[in-house]
Amino acid sequence: MIVLGIESSCDETSAAVVEDGRVVRSNIVLSQEKLHGRFGGIVPELACREHIKAIVPVVELALKDAGIVLEEVDLISVTKTPGLVGALLVGVSFAKGLALTTGKPIIGVDHIHAHLYAVKLAFPELDYPCLGLAVSGGHTSLYISSSEIEHKLIGATRDDAAGECFDKAAKILGLGFPGGPVIEKLALGRDTSKEQFYRSMVEDSSYDFSFSGLKTAVLYRVKGQNISDPERQISEDEKKDVCAGLQEAICDILVEKTLKACKHFGIWKVAVGGGVACNKRLREKFKSRYINAFFPEPKYCTDNGAMVAGLGYHFYKSGVQDDLYLDAIATKQHRK
Ligand code: KG4
Ligand code: ZN
Repeated sequence: MIVLGIESSCDETSAAVVEDGRVVRSNIVLSQEKLHGRFGGIVPELACREHIKAIVPVVELALKDAGIVLEEVDLISVTKTPGLVGALLVGVSFAKGLALTTGKPIIGVDHIHAHLYAVKLAFPELDYPCLGLAVSGGHTSLYISSSEIEHKLIGATRDDAAGECFDKAAKILGLGFPGGPVIEKLALGRDTSKEQFYRSMVEDSSYDFSFSGLKTAVLYRVKGQNISDPERQISEDEKKDVCAGLQEAICDILVEKTLKACKHFGIWKVAVGGGVACNKRLREKFKSRYINAFFPEPKYCTDNGAMVAGLGYHFYKSGVQDDLYLDAIATKQHRK
């Protein structure tokens, strides 16, 4: 079964063609990183406008790369939630237009669940139940997954997401956007004990996370207590140590919380998805705690259409289908 996946929830316009939920025949990703970089974060209005410009060529290229024409697509899968509503609307409206004109079935999927599905592209043998940790720029959520399409939320961030913490810290440090890759690079080989940050909520009995305090700690470290001098910057060497200390704290929080869930539920397999899953230190730390963690290839950690196509396939196989009343929903889902 040939599925066309469309993703436009944030700052990447992506389309992919995936066969039977496994074989990625094409995956085109157009990132708006450079556009938003000068603002140090994503500007929603700009993101929507860029998606409108990009959606047609990106889908055309995905079909061309896969060596197929639209008529050969069996199903259209699109991210419907969560994300920037204007950005989501571009993908959802375009997908509905395609479904209407071609008569093909359509399915709207959850972006966070799609991040977890990305693991299955690399590890189709991964079975259930397993834990799912979605760590991206907008979300930090922990699930118990009982199938590709069933995920019970057991914990989530109460404020900033892990990726957002990397991004905001990078902005404070004057390192540009997105923050994760550059912080990982600068942290490489540094002594992580030089700059130490508090591991928030690690002792808490819930599976929730909190990262906004870490961002504030970096702000005070760089600009001084009470932000006495907004122009102040620390030395390049100190910056690298702050990057290392921050990355260590973020990774420790993610791994220790997941470990707690592994112990409580007796589930030692974890699918980790989302942009932060690219982080090598995070991967090492999971290993060091003897958790059997599965990560997608980096290109499938960040936003992409392939994970959306793959997840849509499994919904369709289970008998789920949407109609043309499918709508974009901006807000994060609530605990079920
Ligand atoms: O999943 P994604 O592409 O978009 C969202 O759904 O948010 O994730 C983007 C996030 C950004 O916050 C970025 O800083 C982070 O993933 N990220 C990383 C790394 N690469 C991307 N964080 C830590 N280490 C990385 N190597
Ligand atoms: Zn994402």
